[in-house]
Amino acid sequence: MLDRLSPQAPDALLALIRLHDADPRDDKIDLGVGVYRTEDGNTPVFAAVKAAEQRLVQEQDSKSYLGPEGDMGFVNALMPHIFGADPTMGGRISGMQTPGGTGAVRLALALAQKAGVKRVHMGVPSWPNHAQILADLGLELVPFDHASPDGTANLEAVLDAIVNAGVEDAVLLHGCCHNPTGIDYTADQWEQIAEALAQSGTFPIIDSAYQGLGQGLEADAAGLRSVLAKVPEAFIAYSCDKNFGQYRDRVGAFYILGQDSKALETAFSNANALARACWSMPPDHGGAVVRLILRDPELTAMWMAELDDMRGRMRGVRDALAAAGSAGRIDLTPLGTQNGLFAMLPVTKEEVAQLREGHGIYMAASGRINIAGLTMGNLPKFIAALAAVAH
Ligand code: LMR
Repeated sequence: MLDRLSPQAPDALLALIRLHDADPRDDKIDLGVGVYRTEDGNTPVFAAVKAAEQRLVQEQDSKSYLGPEGDMGFVNALMPHIFGADPTMGGRISGMQTPGGTGAVRLALALAQKAGVKRVHMGVPSWPNHAQILADLGLELVPFDHASPDGTANLEAVLDAIVNAGVEDAVLLHGCCHNPTGIDYTADQWEQIAEALAQSGTFPIIDSAYQGLGQGLEADAAGLRSVLAKVPEAFIAYSCDKNFGQYRDRVGAFYILGQDSKALETAFSNANALARACWSMPPDHGGAVVRLILRDPELTAMWMAELDDMRGRMRGVRDALAAAGSAGRIDLTPLGTQNGLFAMLPVTKEEVAQLREGHGIYMAASGRINIAGLTMGNLPKFIAALAAVAH
């Protein structure tokens, strides 16, 4: 039977991890998969996470099953940070835990499909796994251009997609720190998007995987909040992989904005059934850690300070790239005003290969770089190599 299967290429982003690890060059630079790195190139466990983990070991008295919804203490503790001062919007928002942001996106799209969605409009380029999940579910991806050639968001394209979408359509938006471009909508653009969604009835699904890594925890949630303030229903896929540095522990949440508590109850009975049939229940550890952090003011302050440091370091790298002006034919100045871990360089696949083979610089074939892989130490080498290759 197994001979009926044809080999599949490994996930291109995850494959970069192994390629980079196998490279013996001391001055290699990893700009591949999206993990935060310090100035020393490490991805340490947050001090707040370590402290909460120690407490968890002391305090946890059972590892018995939870339900498909996971740790609701974790899910609820996150809500004020995502949704603001009235976190349930008068009982209209509720959530459940998922295995990472990927689990949340998967569940959001599967539930949308169950509710009759057939097509999903999405700005491209996007995180490659979005398209993979859509294809796996058999949902049609309707692409529009996320960015304009000048490095700003293409507002007309997203408004056009929303306004002309049909009743069986949803639109998938990035809450902040757009992956892979780093190009976010401005506050005014979010208002226009929210208005278009409210007028058209197109169903919004918002993927928020980098809150706190763009402009700050509150600022990064502002776009999402302006949409939720205007629309009757929405799905939110949330990841703690990056902003709590819990990548491999798979910490995510799926939230629904519904018309009322009865609608939420029915929607979550379906979401629970989908989760049960897929992963049964999410892994507990990372969610429990986030719950402990967010219920303790001292640990919360520690976590926020660590997040501020990360954001500040990436902002410093962006400022330095923008100050360099250009590398060969590549204009680096737009990177200074973009947000989060990622930026897209207009390089060819051949140039990406030359950077890897000739200079030990690893990035996605699309030209996406992980800003956090750059430091004040390796920046000159990166800019020189880019100039040499992309002349
Ligand atoms: C990325 O885009 O590099 C991250 O979101 C990691 C992943 O799972 O792809």
